[in-house]
Amino acid sequence: MTENILELKNITKRFSSVEVLHEVSFSLRQGEVHALLGENGAGKSTLVKVITGVHQPDGGQIILDGKRAHFGDTRESREAGIAAIYQELSLFPDLDVAENIFVGRQPTTVGGRIDWRKLYADAGNLLDSLGVHLDLKHKARNLSIAQQQMVEIARAFSINARILIMDEPTSSLTLNEVADLFRLVRRLRDEGTAIIFISHRLEELFELADRVTVMRDGSYVDTCTLKDVTRDELIRLMVGRTITNLFPKQDVKAGDVVLKVENLAREGTFRDISFELRKGEILGMAGLVGAGRTNVARAIFGVEPATSGSIQIEGREVAIKSPQLAIQLGLAYVPEDRQLHGLIPAMNITSNISLPMLSKYAVQGWLQDKTERKAAYGAALQMEVRANNIWQLARELSGGNQQKIVLSKWLSTNPRILILDEPTRGIDVGTKAAVHALMSKLASEGIAILMISSELPEILGMSDRVIVMREGHMTAQFSRAEATQEKIISAATQAVTSGSIQ
Ligand SMILES: Nc1ncnc2c1ncn2[C@@H]1O[C@H](COP(=O)(O)OP(=O)(O)OP(=O)(O)O)[C@@H](O)[C@H]1O
Ligand SMILES: [Mg+2]
Repeated sequence: MTENILELKNITKRFSSVEVLHEVSFSLRQGEVHALLGENGAGKSTLVKVITGVHQPDGGQIILDGKRAHFGDTRESREAGIAAIYQELSLFPDLDVAENIFVGRQPTTVGGRIDWRKLYADAGNLLDSLGVHLDLKHKARNLSIAQQQMVEIARAFSINARILIMDEPTSSLTLNEVADLFRLVRRLRDEGTAIIFISHRLEELFELADRVTVMRDGSYVDTCTLKDVTRDELIRLMVGRTITNLFPKQDVKAGDVVLKVENLAREGTFRDISFELRKGEILGMAGLVGAGRTNVARAIFGVEPATSGSIQIEGREVAIKSPQLAIQLGLAYVPEDRQLHGLIPAMNITSNISLPMLSKYAVQGWLQDKTERKAAYGAALQMEVRANNIWQLARELSGGNQQKIVLSKWLSTNPRILILDEPTRGIDVGTKAAVHALMSKLASEGIAILMISSELPEILGMSDRVIVMREGHMTAQFSRAEATQEKIISAATQAVTSGSIQ
């Protein structure tokens, strides 16, 4: 009997001629939470996909319960008790919550038909046991990212996995939801499940994980017990250098008001939203996932326009009925969901970056290849995108690098007002510092930035002012000096806080 439930020995994986995993070894014990840590593109998700049979390794061995194993596809790994929640969510948009949980494994009646009654009863029981409140008949396409994540988790739990792999499960969850998830993970661990957990948030690893394996550039670096390692040591192992300042916020004197929003409302989603944004200012928008911040951003950008209230840009009232109009008015919006709204996976990096500014590069209807390429290259370089070349398809990039492409794409439109929705979600700590430095630089050049973020350190570290939303309305507004973690949490979670509404 071996103590390791799963062992990887010298796993190598190549995509065409590029080696993305180089002799990686890894071991997983029963009843432990084992974190995988590494920069964007280090190979974490690829390693996970080798374990689940999505990819076949080009070298090395997978050993399960002391025996050599081979998984030709995800069905085989699932039958061996391995479940995974992948970084890119994979629900079927037209199926409802219950159908998604049991897709491909629906309970059947004696006659061989789908037993709908049992399906909904089982789904209901499962969600109850996870403490998740969701309408079973809700179609996946109408769920928030956090809710989709919950369905993915329920799906993974439903197969009673002995090994559960979670690739950045918390990146779109906040506070309460993360706490709920951690409670679940701990319960499973105590019941003997072995868990592989990937997150770029180091605090989470210290809170949840027992051991951590660090990867760099596709290679194994080290495995440590979290009790015996410091945050700085982990960062050094991961990036090979120390990072001194994660929030390099420059002091910028705010200029004129460029964006003024008054009593903005969209029936059923948000109401009474009023704020001003000045040139050179970073306005943080805090709140829990689902508080309505993204809806406000989408309304300002003309995706789903507001139904009442007004928007002024540089003192002029505007009716932003479409994103095209928003772009013409100097707005750019980096959405939170890079898979759905930010990126065309089947197109290459260059085309993705030049997408919003195609008209700029089209001369008499023909794309100026060279100009486009140059702009894409410049933007990708600025964001430290890690890819083989600028013709690589977006879907082949690691999650964090996809996020960087989305950022590059909108920055290349030279906006006056930049709306960033969770700008560093899924981005590694080194690049996070680079994104923050870039934001700070853009602000100092006079760009007005509205930054939606669920990460309090980011809100506190980068904002000149902070507004907080809860359940579709604004509950507080703080200056940089006033804002504290406690005040923001309280405004984000409780009913209107006294005295702080402005
Ligand atoms: N299908 C594919 N074809 C070609 N290259 C790929 C493919 N999948 C992944 N890669 C490359 O493998 C490398 C590792 O990617 P991987 O997704 O494993 O990184 P990661 O550590 O999960 O990063 P992140 O933190 O950004 O999610 C990247 O350089 C990526 O571009
Ligand atoms: Mg990944």
